[in-house]
Amino acid sequence: LAEYWAKRCFASHEPAERLPADLRELCQLQLPQLLALAEGPVLVMYATRAGAYRSSEVAPAQALGFYQAGMTLYFHLDKRRPEIHRWLQALAADLRQPVDALRFSVFATDRGGITQCHFDINHNFTLQVRGRKRWKIAENHFAIRPLERFTVSDRVPEILRLHTVEEPPRCLPPDAQSIELFPGSMVYVPRGDWHEVEALEESLSFNFSFSPVTWLSLVLPAIRHCLAAHEEWREEATGAWGGLAERAEARRRLAALIARLPQDLTSLAAEDLLPASRHAVDRGPFEGDARFRRNQMATFGIERTKGSAEPHTVVVITVPGGPSAGLRLSPPALAACRVILQKTGPFSIGELAATVPSLEPAALSQLLAQLVEIGFVQRIEADRPG
Ligand SMILES: [Fe+2]
Repeated sequence: LAEYWAKRCFASHEPAERLPADLRELCQLQLPQLLALAEGPVLVMYATRAGAYRSSEVAPAQALGFYQAGMTLYFHLDKRRPEIHRWLQALAADLRQPVDALRFSVFATDRGGITQCHFDINHNFTLQVRGRKRWKIAENHFAIRPLERFTVSDRVPEILRLHTVEEPPRCLPPDAQSIELFPGSMVYVPRGDWHEVEALEESLSFNFSFSPVTWLSLVLPAIRHCLAAHEEWREEATGAWGGLAERAEARRRLAALIARLPQDLTSLAAEDLLPASRHAVDRGPFEGDARFRRNQMATFGIERTKGSAEPHTVVVITVPGGPSAGLRLSPPALAACRVILQKTGPFSIGELAATVPSLEPAALSQLLAQLVEIGFVQRIEADRPG
């Protein structure tokens, strides 16, 4: 991983018989059977007479006809199916990536089918299932760590213009390496590497692709979350489309908001976005000196349940990037949650117990265990002397 992940391509050529048994079973399926496992539309790919590379979406039930007419098919397999999900989970765990970012797709190409030179924003693992394919792969000096896919016959997307002012190459760079894949071969192409692929025979391959989780994609929703907590940022951008004087006033207002960004983003904390407790939740019981901090980005709402015979109050807590949790709490536990909500720094269970004396120590410890589990608070390791 340290040597190749997100850095350079890698190929291995193992006989197909050495693949894990569950994957080997999937490899034995024919195209109509794989189409029956498709999730979402099938992408049909073709080249126009002018040589441009295009694709259209069709329903899985209609896709086979296009394949028989010589066009390439690309589709995702349904992740909810246990045989697919099991495999994706194992791969994601091995690569230390979130399973949600991973897709299992099928590429079916007729002999001579060419995928024009392009780069993807995903990390791709391709397993050759049937037939032979020639991959030509080159490093990308045009757009480093791209945020959008690009094919040489297309216009350069706007976001890529932020990466580079160079003109894009119109064909594969001359230093490309050529790799031939046979059934059982696997190639890893990191995000952004140029590649051009030709089916030397009728070919079927599986593609496992990871959408990259970048620092940007991790932090942007959290920034929105932090700023949306301030009513000033929720104000209408009045005057932004007005006359000269109104725009000048709007600009002053915006400049003042931008100036207070560092202060408004102080609640943005790495501990909240990447909690230590994601894998090992500390469930207590906690002693009086156990220390905690609140997830500064977690939201907290009180709702009344509807429809049940006996309506009751539920506290709904949402942590960015995580599911919402609804907790049915006693009045003293609710009071403790309100106290925690006011906390901006670390606090101990003893301090909390002093502010909510009506909550029994065991119940308080249990409440904190629940709040740690859903990510509303995190346990802080006590400083150990020596
Ligand atoms: Fe690709």
